[in-house]
Amino acid sequence: MSQLLTRAPKGTKDILPSEVYKWDFVEGVIRSVMRDYNYQEIRTPIFEHTELFERGVGDTTDIVQKEMYTFNDKGGRSITLRPEGTAPVVRSVLQNSLYAAALPVKLFYYNNRCYRYEQPQSGRYREFHQFGIEQFGAATPAADAEIIMAAYEVFRRFGLEDTLTLHINTVGCPTCRPIYRAKLIEFLEGHKAELCPTCNERMYKNPMRVFDCKSEICSGIMKNAPYITDHLCEDCETSFTGLKESLVAAELPFKVDPTIVRGLDYYKGTVFEFITSTIGAQGTVCGGGRYDGLIEILGGDPLPGIGFGLGIERLILTLDAAGFPFKEPDTVTLYLGSVGGDIKTDVFITSLAAKIRSSGISVERDLMARSVKAQMKYANKIGAKYAAIVGGDEMTSGKVRLKNMTGGDDIETTFEDIAKLLK
Ligand code: HAM
Repeated sequence: MSQLLTRAPKGTKDILPSEVYKWDFVEGVIRSVMRDYNYQEIRTPIFEHTELFERGVGDTTDIVQKEMYTFNDKGGRSITLRPEGTAPVVRSVLQNSLYAAALPVKLFYYNNRCYRYEQPQSGRYREFHQFGIEQFGAATPAADAEIIMAAYEVFRRFGLEDTLTLHINTVGCPTCRPIYRAKLIEFLEGHKAELCPTCNERMYKNPMRVFDCKSEICSGIMKNAPYITDHLCEDCETSFTGLKESLVAAELPFKVDPTIVRGLDYYKGTVFEFITSTIGAQGTVCGGGRYDGLIEILGGDPLPGIGFGLGIERLILTLDAAGFPFKEPDTVTLYLGSVGGDIKTDVFITSLAAKIRSSGISVERDLMARSVKAQMKYANKIGAKYAAIVGGDEMTSGKVRLKNMTGGDDIETTFEDIAKLLK
C-alpha cells in the first residue's frame, strides 16, 4: 500500500483529540486578551492572488523566493496558499474600506492556517497556525507599545512571562535605512571571502538579513557589524525612545537587540520578537513590527500599520515544555448500557439518551451490541462518571441504578429523575 495514502504530507500534522483540548484552552485565553484590548476578529481566505504576497511580503524574502505554495487554478489565475497573515488583512482593509469608520482599526486573527515550504523540524512546519494582530492608523510609540503589551499579556496569562524574552529593535525608515545599508554593505564587503554563499547573495539584496545567518563564522563577523541603532534619524530615534519609555512604564522587561531584523520586507521602524530557549532551534514564538508604507504598496492611501504573528504550535510547545497544567476535557457523565440487546431495549435507550442529552448532560450509549461485561469495561475506559444498565426489569419498574464509577455511592432513581439528579 502506498505511504501516500497513510501518511500526511511532510511538514503537516493531525491535531488529534488528545491535543485539541489544549488548542481550545489557548484559544479561550487569547480571545479574552483580545476582548480586554478591544481587538475585533477578522477571517480572510486561505488563498489569495499570488501577486499580493509577491508585492506585499516582498520578492527578496525567503517566503516569496522559495517557500510559497503557488498553483494555477482552473481559470488560469495564479493562486497562493497564505504564507502569513498581514498582507491578506491589509488587502481586506483596503477592499472593505475598514479605515473609513474609525481609526485606529484594531484587528486580530486566530488559527490562521499558513503554508510555507520550509525544511520541517520541531516547531517548524509546512502547515502551521498563527494568532496575530494588525492595527492601522496610529503611528505613535503608544501604538507600538500596545501591540507588544497585548502579546506579553497572552504570555503572562499562561505564566510564561519569564520563559520568553522580548527583543526589540528598529529597522529604520527610508531616511536613515539607506545610509545605514550603505555602511553595512561596506562592512560586509570587507568580509566577502569569509561569509557563507547565502550571505554573499544577501549582501546586496537584503544586507540586514545577514544578521539572521546561523553559521558560526557569519554570526561571529556580525558581532562587529555596525548596528542600525547607532545610525537612526531623529524621527526614528524619538519613536524608538518613546517605545522604550512606554515599556519601562508598563514594567515590561525587554532587551534592545540590533540583530533582530525579521524576514519580511515590509517592516519599517519598530520590530520585535518574543524568544524562548525551551523548545529548541525554532524559539521565536511571536514576531512582528511596524509596516507603514505597506498599504501604499498594495494601492491604498498612506495609513500606518503595526502587528505581530504568534505561532500556536510554538506556543503549545512552550506550554508543554513549561509543564503547563492544561485541564483535561470533562469525560462523559453517564453511560447507558443495555442487557439483552433486543430492539425494544435499544429503542427505549435511544429515546432515554436523547431526553437526558437534551437537558445538557453528556451521555454515551451502547452502539455495538456488546455483552454487559464489555460495556462496563468500555464505560470505565471512557471515564464515565456513572453507568446504568437497562433491561426488561428496569423498563417494567421504571427504576434504574446509576453505578458510581468513581467509587462513591450508587444512586437508585427513576428514568424521569436521572437528568435532574445528575445536573
Ligand atoms: P513571521 O515571523 O514569519 O511573521 O511569523 C510569525 C510567527 O509564526 C513566528 O514567530 C512563529 O511562531 C510562527 N511561524 C512562522 N513560520 C512557521 C513555521 N514554518 N512553522 C511553525 N510556526 C511558524 C509573520 O508572519 C508576520 N506576518 C507577522 C506580523 C504581523 N508582522 C506584522 N504583523
